[in-house]
Order: sequence, then structure tokens, then C-alpha cells
Amino acid sequence: MKKIYIFDTTLRDGEQTPGVALNPQEKLEIAKQLEAMGVDVIEAGFPISSNGDFEGVKLIAKNIKNSTVNALARANKSDIDRAYEAIKYAPKKRIHTFLATSDVHMKYKLKMSEEEVLKRATEMVSYAKTLVDDVEFSPEDGSRTRREFLYKVLENVIDAGATVVNIPDTVGYSTPNEFGKLIKDIKENVPNISKAKISVHCHNDLGLAVANSLAAIENGAEQVECAVNGLGERAGNAALEEIVMALRTRKDIYKCDTGISTERIYRVSSIVAHLSGISVQPNKAIVGANAFAHESGIHQDGVLKNRETYEIMTPESVGFKTNNMVLGKHSGRHAFEDRIIELGYNLTKEQLNEGFKKFKDLADRKKEISDKDIEAIINQGVVSIEDYYKVEVFNVSTAKNISATATVKILYNDIEKVEAACGDGPVSALYKAIERSIDISPVLEDYSIQAITSGSDALGEVKVKLSLDGKKVLGMGISTDVIEASLMAYMNALNKLRN
Ligand code: KIV
Ligand code: ZN
Repeated sequence: MKKIYIFDTTLRDGEQTPGVALNPQEKLEIAKQLEAMGVDVIEAGFPISSNGDFEGVKLIAKNIKNSTVNALARANKSDIDRAYEAIKYAPKKRIHTFLATSDVHMKYKLKMSEEEVLKRATEMVSYAKTLVDDVEFSPEDGSRTRREFLYKVLENVIDAGATVVNIPDTVGYSTPNEFGKLIKDIKENVPNISKAKISVHCHNDLGLAVANSLAAIENGAEQVECAVNGLGERAGNAALEEIVMALRTRKDIYKCDTGISTERIYRVSSIVAHLSGISVQPNKAIVGANAFAHESGIHQDGVLKNRETYEIMTPESVGFKTNNMVLGKHSGRHAFEDRIIELGYNLTKEQLNEGFKKFKDLADRKKEISDKDIEAIINQGVVSIEDYYKVEVFNVSTAKNISATATVKILYNDIEKVEAACGDGPVSALYKAIERSIDISPVLEDYSIQAITSGSDALGEVKVKLSLDGKKVLGMGISTDVIEASLMAYMNALNKLRN
């Protein structure tokens, strides 16, 4: 079986998903999950893009041992130096530098000629090579690049030392036949291609990212760039879980292996959804809530008789637990810990203690606690932050034909503030009262609420996006009381702004 290298770009292209902003601790948590899942290369970020991203990449480089830590850099010395400064601590490191090669990008964006692009790309790969052994080069918009020029650029960067040449379908324009042929042609027309690995990076603008990546594999690509839950710029990147499971389920066709522990896929998907704030659509392949649900009677009957009638892979193979046993008020620590292990979590003692406390609080309010509830509780505590602002007391009232009112008592920096406010609704009154109490003035960019499970005692999950002086954060809160969940989400976001 041929090995396909999985290059995960959740923390770089995935972080370019509109509205996603991960702090360094959140990035590290995701990177640890990716490493444990067996990802070969983790693209940890684009260090020159912000100090936060630089710190995130550095933290990952210091903590990740088994996967290669990769940082992105445009083809210039400052970007490459910054990338190196961030990844230099990693035992396995790579610099990924890119420069656009299509006519439209060179003419309008770069305002550079072919000769200039060729020279810059080659020089910058040589420069990166003085810092690290492992250098990847991407001709941005590769799929729309004039063929002869593309071959020439690839040949030159390989001569300059590129170990991986990545062919991006930057705007998701290509189709499986066309993209597969492009990879085949590269293999046949770039004389020194055997000295580098061919990688592909497909975007999903036409919904073809996974199909294009698989076509590339069939034609000789050895590395696939992808992101968990298909996150990424615009319509996203090829979804890691779809590529990996397609290769595993159709080994008869692809004859390839990845090093991914597929049983961890669901857990990683759920953490990424939680920390990025981008929920997974229910009908999403592999990790959607309905991916293994059989609704029609005919299907249910078939599955009961033999799962293979309607299941091409088992839910267990991607880490979906089909155990419907619920925990409740009378379940003890042992049962809770057993379930945590069954769900694939590997928690520290503190996380376990904290999780059990939250579980007990929830059990006082909710009769039956499902796996989804436990997942929500645990995900909530996966990255802890200092509470700079603490709510001591809050009171909200709402009634017909009169404004909602809220009062809060908040502690921070040894100050105790009590404020009240009216609002169009209870959440708006509450948020106004908090805004009056604190020493910063963030902008509320977005608010959303969603039930985690069904039933009148379901947990509600609130997500709040705040921005302050260009910094954007996502706060989350869960509770059976939606006002309390709204308060928790807002405070979580405020404390992230302060961290
Ligand atoms: O889509 C793209 O072309 C990229 C490159 C930086 C590889 O993300
Ligand atoms: Zn991309």
C-alpha cells in the first residue's frame, strides 16, 4: 500500500474561515488532537500575519513532537524569517512558502513578470533551505497557471531544494478529470519531479475539493492538504475526515494508507467545531449528526438485519459512540469517568474533577444526561482561561409591555461594580448592564443560540463574538437556562479579550 501523507491546515487555511479566531492555547489544543490522531504535518499558522498567530505557532512548535510543524510564509525574506523564528523549536519543522504563478495573479495582484516570479520563487526556496531542511513550495493558483510556466517553476524550485511541491486549486475551479490530469502531466513533464513529493491543496468552491484531491492521489500525489470539518477560506478546503475515510473505505480502488487513527476523527471534529464556533451541519459526511442515522423504515429494517445493507463504514470506525445509555443524578464518579473514556477523552485529573462537578450541577437540573451533554461539558473546559471579570450576582426580569431589566454585580481588579440597564429583551438588558460595569468597550459582532439536545430541559449553547481594537474572540456558554448561558458566553468572551 502506498502511504499518503496527511497535511492538516485547520490551524492556517481553516483559521481563515470568516469569523474564526483561535488563541494560542486553543490552537495548541487542536494541534495536540491532530498529533494524537496521526496527522503527518500540521500547518500551525502564518506567523507574519499577527503576533497572536506567531505565538500560537511557537507554542505548537515547542509542544508537538511526532508531527512535522509547518509555518506558512509568502516568498520574501521577512515572512520566511518570521516563520522560522516560530517553528525553530520543533523537532520536525517545515517552511511552506508560496507565490502566485497564474497570469491573472501575476498581472493584477503581484504586478510581476514570469521571469521575476521564477527568480523570486527560486531564490526564496534557496533562502528557506538555509534555515530548514524541509521546504515546501506552492505556486498559488497552480491549477490556472500556464502549463509550461508551471513546469518550469516546479523544476527550478526543486533544484533549489524544495522537498515538497504543492499544487493548489486556490479558487476551487478545477474538476476531478482535469486536476488528475494536471498531476499526471506534472509527473511526466517536470524532469526532476522524483526528487520532491507532490502535494495538492484543493478548495471547495464547486463542492469538488475532496473529489479533486482523490483524483490527484490516483494520479500520483503523495500528500493531501486538508482541514477538519472542511474549514478554510470561502467554501473551505477538502475535509480531512472525508479524504481519510474515502481512502480507507475504498482501499480496493486507491490502494493507499494514511497514518490516521480514524477512531479519533469524531472527537477531533467536535473539538474543532467547539473552538472554532463553526458547527457541523447535520448531514455532513462522516461527522454530521445524521451521518449514521437511518430514518426510513426500509433502511432501519435492512440495518437491523445486516448493517452492511446501508452502512459502508461503521460509526465506531470514526469514533461515533452508539451507546444510548444515559447518565443521571444517581450516576457516580465511576460511571462518569467510564463514559468519558468511552467517548475517547484523555483528560487530566483537574479537567476530570472540573467536568464531574459540572456534570453533577447539570444532573440537578436535567433528568437524563446524554453523550452530547457530556461532550458539551467537557469541550467547555478543554482550554481554560483566567477569569479577570467575575459575575457575583445577576438578576434579569422580563414581562409584557415593559422593557426587560437586568442588574449585575461584577468583580475585577479588586473593584466591585453594580449596574442596572433596560433592554429590548432580557439578553440585551443583561449585556448592557455588563457593559456599564466593565472598563473596556467591546463590540458585540454576533450572538447565536442553539439547543444541544432535544427536550424542554435541553442544554442551550450560546456563542458570542466580541471585537476590541482589532482583536476578535469567541465566547461560549452552556446551561439549561438560556439567560445564564448568554451571560456565561459574554463573560467568557470578555475574559478572552483580557487574556
Ligand atoms: O489556496 C491556496 O492557494 C493556499 C496556498 C497558500 C497554498 O492556501
Ligand atoms: Zn488555500
